[in-house]
Amino acid sequence: MRNIISFSALTLLLLNCGGSVTAQDDEFLYDTFPPGFMWGQATSAYQVEGGWNEDGKGESIWDTWSHENLGGNIADGSNGDVACDSYHKYADDIKILKDLGVNFYRFSIAWARVIPTGRVADGVNQAGIDYYNRLIDGLLAEGIEPFVTLYHWDLPMGLEVTGGWLNDSIVDDFEDYSRVAFREFGDRVKYWLTFNEPHVFCLARWNYLSQNPFVEPPEKPYICAHNVVKAHALSFRLYDAEFRPTQNGTIGITLNTNWAAPKNPNNTDDQAASFRSMHFSFGWWANPIIRGEYPPIMRELVDRKSQEAGRNSSRLPSFDAQWTEIINGSTDFLGINHYSSHFVEYSNTSTWMDGDAEVKGSGDPSWEQNGIGWSIVPWGFRKLLTWMHEEYSYPIYVTENGYGGRGDEGLDDEPRVRYYRNYINEMLKSIKLDGADVRGYAAWSLIDNYEWELGYTARFGIHYLNYSDPNLTRIPKDSAISLTKIFADNGFPANESLLIV
Ligand SMILES: *[C@@H]1O[C@H](CO)[C@@H](O)[C@H](O)[C@H]1NC(C)=O
Ligand SMILES: *[C@@H]1O[C@H](CO)[C@@H](O)[C@H](O)[C@H]1NC(C)=O
Ligand SMILES: *[C@@H]1O[C@H](CO)[C@@H](O)[C@H](O)[C@H]1NC(C)=O
Ligand SMILES: *[C@@H]1O[C@H](CO)[C@@H](O)[C@H](O)[C@H]1NC(C)=O
Ligand SMILES: *[C@@H]1O[C@H](CO)[C@@H](O)[C@H](O)[C@H]1NC(C)=O
Ligand SMILES: *[C@@H]1O[C@H](CO)[C@@H](O)[C@H](O)[C@H]1NC(C)=O
Ligand SMILES: *[C@@H]1O[C@H](CO)[C@@H](O)[C@H](O)[C@H]1NC(C)=O
Ligand SMILES: *[C@@H]1O[C@H](CO)[C@@H](O)[C@H](O)[C@H]1NC(C)=O
Ligand SMILES: *[C@@H]1O[C@H](CO)[C@@H](O)[C@H](O)[C@H]1NC(C)=O
Repeated sequence: MRNIISFSALTLLLLNCGGSVTAQDDEFLYDTFPPGFMWGQATSAYQVEGGWNEDGKGESIWDTWSHENLGGNIADGSNGDVACDSYHKYADDIKILKDLGVNFYRFSIAWARVIPTGRVADGVNQAGIDYYNRLIDGLLAEGIEPFVTLYHWDLPMGLEVTGGWLNDSIVDDFEDYSRVAFREFGDRVKYWLTFNEPHVFCLARWNYLSQNPFVEPPEKPYICAHNVVKAHALSFRLYDAEFRPTQNGTIGITLNTNWAAPKNPNNTDDQAASFRSMHFSFGWWANPIIRGEYPPIMRELVDRKSQEAGRNSSRLPSFDAQWTEIINGSTDFLGINHYSSHFVEYSNTSTWMDGDAEVKGSGDPSWEQNGIGWSIVPWGFRKLLTWMHEEYSYPIYVTENGYGGRGDEGLDDEPRVRYYRNYINEMLKSIKLDGADVRGYAAWSLIDNYEWELGYTARFGIHYLNYSDPNLTRIPKDSAISLTKIFADNGFPANESLLIV
């Protein structure tokens, strides 16, 4: 182990010096994170648990979607029936978390495991609660904070069949589910996330099953989003009123976005396109939750386009006075999942959501890509965190960041090692040089797992899983070894640079 660590560190430093340099790159920052900065790892229930129908668990849209695999939606036709088998092997996960020296573990609760139909009135599943109790207690016994997501995409089918996120009655069902979670786990869980990446699930076809969300002009995503914002806010208000006084935890939401950089940073049209793009991807959620209304630029554009199309109401719904009060200021912090960046410019020929935002995106051929074709743009991470800080001035937790490799990747994952090192360094710059209040960071992901429509063809883990191995042994990749060092050092101490001189 010792040899591997020093070899990796040296390799990295050399690679970093020799990496491609663009106009936006600047020097590596040797410095440490603020004291108390929290380091962690992330997973989600459907992607790792398996046990899809065990001990009274209800069916979720992902059980249905993957089993039906209509039109070959899943790249390898696979499903999460077993996945990493964390439902049985959670102790193995805790062991590797301990070896990494993390402060927290971000995982999600499968709504249908705890409430099989999704509706509390139909019954709560004690065996599901017992599972999460075992996981939470096991983490705490090792000094690892549970950081819990209530909703990471696996909607109970019982709620999907009555319209899912398009039926506003789901808002109350989510509040009821939240109450069960806070009541059962909140004595030990101090970090809560209501939703993971609504921008993905409200725009994804699997969120609508047999319905087609991709109709022009877009309408369903706005309705979904509206109900998600309300559900988030009710959950927050519930926690605030009934649980915070005794449990003293913190609750937020996790949004996801690329940094949408102006194609030419000096061009005012491109700067305006960047502004629109960030508000359509991030402000869509952050603005109502923090300021009580959708971003004014969204209001203006979608209202205008709706009116021009002769509609009697906007495709973008509005919050009445009562809801405005409930949603306004309904978060303690902002969670962010970030992987990549792209350029944007004005466009009046784009379709669907980009059509509403009047933007078109592009990449840069000089950017390196990860194994599944996502551009690696470390400087975009700093830009995003600093923009979030300047726009909203809230505490930030990075709840996902990581590198997707191809299925044939092994333990020597040098591009992932380099990705983490450079992205984490840009986060450090945002904190130290730009003043962003970033309090924690979770790498995605602890282990290779089920990557939704990519099935098992993509690997994001810092631990390797051989899916043919009946033991599903978690084997550390080089990235696990290098992250262990970054976590232990709390960043990149200045003396590290001296070691190679
Ligand atoms: C919305 O859900 C409720 C149950 O919560 C159901 O009674 C109602 O029919 C649903 N509405 C639609 C349009 O499906
Ligand atoms: C509540 O938690 C905060 C930190 O999150 C801590 O500073 C404070 O002392 C706690 N209060 C109580 C009453 O436990
Ligand atoms: C933008 O302006 C700065 C300073 O005026 C200049 O250094 C830079 O080269 C310009 N960038 C582009 C892409 O034109
Ligand atoms: C949200 O609350 C803030 C602070 O109380 C207030 O200034 C703002 O007007 C509210 N937003 C809306 C849309 O009412
Ligand atoms: C608005 O238009 C919809 C159909 O697009 C119709 O069902 C509804 O009744 C109209 N509402 C008003 C107030 O005219
Ligand atoms: C579309 O945008 C182009 C510039 O990109 C402009 O020349 C053209 O007038 C615009 N068309 C409309 C209908 O606004
Ligand atoms: C995966 O496990 C199977 C069964 O134990 C074994 O035959 C195979 O060699 C393993 N593959 C790798 C890459 O370790
Ligand atoms: C699987 O686990 C069992 C029990 O821990 C062990 O005896 C066996 O060697 C393991 N097999 C592999 C292929 O790791
Ligand atoms: C480098 O600094 C870290 C903490 O900043 C310290 O723990 C470590 O012992 C130092 N290493 C050397 C070789 O000085």
